[in-house]
Amino acid sequence: MTIVVTYAEFAAREAHGVSPAYERLSYAVSRDDEILALLAALPPMKRQPNLLFGVVRLCGGPVEDPAAFHDYTVANWPAIEAEMRVRATQTNEAGRCAVLLPVLAALSQPLALLEVGASAGLCLYPDRYAYRYGDYVIGAGVPVLECAATGVAPPACVPDVVWRAGLDLNPLDVTDPADVAWLEALIWPEHAHRRARLRAAAAVAAAEPPLLVRGDLVDDLPALAAQAPAGATLVVFHTSVMYHVPAPRREAFTKVVRRLPGHWIANEAPDVLPYDALPKPPGAALHNVLALDGTPLAWTRSHGQAIIWFA
Ligand SMILES: C[S@@+](CC[C@H](N)C(=O)[O-])C[C@H]1O[C@@H](n2cnc3c(N)ncnc32)[C@H](O)[C@@H]1O
Repeated sequence: MTIVVTYAEFAAREAHGVSPAYERLSYAVSRDDEILALLAALPPMKRQPNLLFGVVRLCGGPVEDPAAFHDYTVANWPAIEAEMRVRATQTNEAGRCAVLLPVLAALSQPLALLEVGASAGLCLYPDRYAYRYGDYVIGAGVPVLECAATGVAPPACVPDVVWRAGLDLNPLDVTDPADVAWLEALIWPEHAHRRARLRAAAAVAAAEPPLLVRGDLVDDLPALAAQAPAGATLVVFHTSVMYHVPAPRREAFTKVVRRLPGHWIANEAPDVLPYDALPKPPGAALHNVLALDGTPLAWTRSHGQAIIWFA
């Protein structure tokens, strides 16, 4: 995919209807020859809209007005480029627990959760958050995660989690102000509710930190999985991770995870894992596929705001 198409698609399929500022900005970048030339000098994985916009926000630059963004980005490119080269998009969205919950709650309890690509580990606390599926509220904690559920009954109770561990190439620490600043910069400009959610979820994680291990989701998964307690159902899961991972490594991961005991939950873009057949997506917006043990079950929106179960 060319950089022009990447930015135009991000505007149309991810930001449209979700972030007017990023929709505007991403279309503007897709037509901005000067910024496109700067991006072209970066490795392909470092050209993503979320990375560029997050770094500019981290540096204190403007993202509401495309002309001001252009001027700031061109004038400050050396600093922006340096940050883009060392950082990756590590958005940690606790809201994604709302689409995992129906599957987690249906498994044999208690659960030992192992998240690959965990970032700061905020998706490892599905039992501590509360959920609102339409009028139905479940759980007692904060944040309260809102999700529009279609074709699936919300679970009667939150899962029973006895162990939580995360694996990430670069684990983030919610008690480190620099890591929290990066997580906040990755949240889209208008999304005050997501910044509040991040802070509430970070407080949950800080009170009872998960086991977060620096490592690769292929090479280091078996050793971490071996630490899960006996007597609990091991659940290896990942959300919005596989687009970071080259295709041969995704295949290697699939082989490794299928050899482990327990279950495997994937919540990823439809083109990154092979599925025999998928129903038509519910619209033009980007939807992820929620799958259990390789069987696709539902379409989900990327921040956990909706789940549409397959008929
Ligand atoms: C977009 S974040 C998603 C975080 C979390 N799963 C969520 O949904 O909120 C993707 C994470 O995957 C991690 N990651 C990418 N490639 C990885 C690999 N090969 N092994 C382990 N973690 C990886 C990144 O460092 C990043 O923290």
